Amino acid sequence: MKIFNTKNSLQNYLSQMHAPGKKVGLVPTMGALHNGHLSLLAEARIYCDEVVCSIFVNPTQFTDPKDLEKYPRPIERDIDMLTAAGCDVLFNPAVNEMYSPGETWHLDIGPIENLLEGKYRPGHYQGVTQVVFKLFDMIKPQYAFFGQKDYQQVKVITRMVQLLNMPVKLVMCPIVREPGGLAMSSRNVHLSAQARDHSLILSQTLTLVKQQFDAGRPLDDLRQLAANQINQNQNIQLDYFEIADAETLLPALDASQNLVALVAAKIGNIRLIDNVMLN
Ligand code: PAJ
Repeated sequence: MKIFNTKNSLQNYLSQMHAPGKKVGLVPTMGALHNGHLSLLAEARIYCDEVVCSIFVNPTQFTDPKDLEKYPRPIERDIDMLTAAGCDVLFNPAVNEMYSPGETWHLDIGPIENLLEGKYRPGHYQGVTQVVFKLFDMIKPQYAFFGQKDYQQVKVITRMVQLLNMPVKLVMCPIVREPGGLAMSSRNVHLSAQARDHSLILSQTLTLVKQQFDAGRPLDDLRQLAANQINQNQNIQLDYFEIADAETLLPALDASQNLVALVAAKIGNIRLIDNVMLN
């Protein structure tokens, strides 16, 4: 695997790879890799001749400086995992390689910016679009791979790609879970064994909601059921549970649309998100 820390060296290398017919795939990450990330790489291998993974803990998307500070950065382990997974290129820039001093960014992505995660993490999706725009612009991938785990992020990036006419195809990959059902996340390393047990209520609730949706229960009943179930556990602070239109992420009124159920909750100071498609 080739490793580049500067955009010039990466672009020099990739200029040979953009020969006609060759497909470059990008898997953007913030590192602390797990099987969820590796599933994106495996999917990229199917579509692409050259698979690029980026590891960059992007400061502009963090709302809480403490969260940024304690974000895990096991780079040597990540390199070993990427090598074993057959990744071709790692792009691992420093902050000053990605951003120049005083740089600003704003992209109007509409109401989706301030819903759900956006409400709890103001500015988060501006930071995400800023860094993903830069990565797309630098690497010019034909395909880019994102996890359904961050469903709203996929929809935000889809919107950006539409608005800016970017020539990249987005591929959304299924959520990879730990054996008990907890969605894999780099932040899970901060969970104690006990917190891990408590966390299972999130995926269990989503499974129950999906079952009850399939059985024809009205959406408001399902919202109530989910909130009750999660709130029963006093170790968990529910930020939101919502059943939303799968495209706009606005609260759904009835089951005639494509729907997604999304949840976010804190266990201690660890924030977890999860979701399931309902139809
Ligand atoms: P990060 O949290 O490292 O996630 C990188 C990619 O892995 C995202 O597309 C995310 O949805 C996907 N992913 C994480 N956990 C997953 C799981 N359990 N199953 C499947 N896919 C999973 O998301 C980011 O980084 C950043 O916001 C980024 C897009 C890199 C921009 O900085």
